[in-house]
Amino acid sequence: MKILLLSGAFHLEKSLAEKFDIIKVEQKFFPDNEQYIRIPYKNDDEYLIVQSMFRNPDNKIIETIFAIRTLKDLGVKKIYGFFPYLAYTRQDKRYKEGEAISQLIVLEMLRNAGLEYLITLDAHFHQGIPQLEGLKIKNVICAPYFYKYLTSIIPRENFVVIGPDDDAYILALKLAEKLNLQVGYIEKLRKGEREVAALSININVKDKNVILIDDMISTGGTIIKAYELLKKEGANEVFVIATHGLFVEDALQKLKNLGIKNIMTTNSVPNEVAVFDVSEILIEELEWIKKL
Ligand code: R5P
Repeated sequence: MKILLLSGAFHLEKSLAEKFDIIKVEQKFFPDNEQYIRIPYKNDDEYLIVQSMFRNPDNKIIETIFAIRTLKDLGVKKIYGFFPYLAYTRQDKRYKEGEAISQLIVLEMLRNAGLEYLITLDAHFHQGIPQLEGLKIKNVICAPYFYKYLTSIIPRENFVVIGPDDDAYILALKLAEKLNLQVGYIEKLRKGEREVAALSININVKDKNVILIDDMISTGGTIIKAYELLKKEGANEVFVIATHGLFVEDALQKLKNLGIKNIMTTNSVPNEVAVFDVSEILIEELEWIKKL
């Protein structure tokens, strides 16, 4: 199997090149912003495409579709995708009449181009893993990987694990189980894309250290409100962990300005607080692929 790195995964090149034979896409943009890609193809029946769809998701999706379809044209029999950050998963159903269910549409486009197997990390599949004929999806929960890292840096006395909303409770639960800690979540109210309110916490956090875990940090609004509530309720130190650190605009700086010292993410999206390498996850998940 050959590994094809697309532009959103170039930051993983070093760690993946230690283990795999890697091919890198050639990409450029025409003056009108249309995209060109070329695959320096090496003959193989199986290809694994690695792509992370952050910051400019539309371009990354087009690039991925071009790559899948081109591999198909070149005669590749099985095409797998490892997309640590899969874009457009948040719109998972029609909340208002007439809305596009972008999660499903993007997956269908990838499947229609020729993708058969997809591995992603902590995707926003809150309605369950989408069931599409012809596309098998595996959503890896990263909490057990965080656990391995956390045990070496965080003492466990007097800690609790909290999800900043009820969707994140499952992540908090998985991590708490591993660390053998108490777990809870915050009742969150989303008022708009950038505005949330943290209403209450379902467990006592007074004088406790908190591991606050979420799938992604985008504007930082969710974590900011959660942190403020935790502090109001008397929490000691707060460790923030997220799978995807998108940190749009100055979100990371806002979190630091609040006084949050410990913020950790995976490198699904490259950023200055990425400490968990998703290449490690890919190496383990290849076992799943081998069994297919
Ligand atoms: C929401 O369901 C997600 O799990 C995250 O809590 C959310 O996307 C984070 O976004 P933001 O950082 O903009 O509050």
